[in-house]
Amino acid sequence: MKTISIMNHKGGTGKTTSSINIGAGLARKGHKVLLVDIDSQANLTEGLGIGEAEVSVYDSIRENKKLPILNISDNLDLVPASIDLLGAEMEIVSKIGREQILTKLLKPIRAEYDYIIIDCPPSVGLLTVNAMVASDTILLPLQGEYFAYKGVDRLLGIVKEVRENLNDTLDIGGVFITQINPNRILTKTIVEKLIEDLQEKVFDTKIRINVALAEAQLQGQSIFDYAPESNGAKDYEKLVDEILSKLN
Ligand SMILES: Nc1ncnc2c1ncn2[C@@H]1O[C@H](COP(=O)(O)OP(=O)(O)OP(=O)(O)O)[C@@H](O)[C@H]1O
Ligand SMILES: [Mg+2]
Repeated sequence: MKTISIMNHKGGTGKTTSSINIGAGLARKGHKVLLVDIDSQANLTEGLGIGEAEVSVYDSIRENKKLPILNISDNLDLVPASIDLLGAEMEIVSKIGREQILTKLLKPIRAEYDYIIIDCPPSVGLLTVNAMVASDTILLPLQGEYFAYKGVDRLLGIVKEVRENLNDTLDIGGVFITQINPNRILTKTIVEKLIEDLQEKVFDTKIRINVALAEAQLQGQSIFDYAPESNGAKDYEKLVDEILSKLN
């Protein structure tokens, strides 16, 4: 059983798209998967076809209530988010054990799943720290463009701090490049720099720019249901295989 946080402080790097399609990809291979949306934008929730959830992770965080779980498809469940989460960080900041709230909420249901995947917001606040504390491993999607690389050192520093202070078994599972344009030279330079710095942590699989990935999200479907023959489906299937071989 593994809990994975998909994290990057930068917006729009493909966290949510990757959460949906890694989750759906693992579920298709017979693994029991729980996706957890802790972003107030609720893009993961919407991207799985749930308009507005009646009860969300916010209610559980606030009132220490059982996590709401919705079944999406075979082997795939979701803990939805809602816009209320926007204020959650401020509300929990004075609580004792504020970094372990999500860990505690997941504890009674962990054994039911092979993989729990947490889609983090584009910031490193208390919610993201909660995700890191609750996780075994972190996956970092990086956009294939020059500025994507800025700040990664800082982010890795924060992961190290969490490991030293709050979760000594937290591991960086890997970094993968998304929204890559294979024809742009610039992208290649970034990949080379990344490989130099992070070495074996960089996944071989790269997710190409593919409009079907964006369309699938708008339709509330995974890429495997929306466009199974697309490059997006091929890339995410390959990424899932690489995750399975690298994380186990
Ligand atoms: N490989 C891709 N090809 C084309 N479009 C993509 C690809 N990956 C993601 N997108 C689109 O780019 C936008 C940002 O992606 P996504 O929502 O996954 O990023 P995010 O990191 O979760 O963003 P945020 O930081 O706001 O949570 C979305 O509209 C998504 O559909
Ligand atoms: Mg997102």
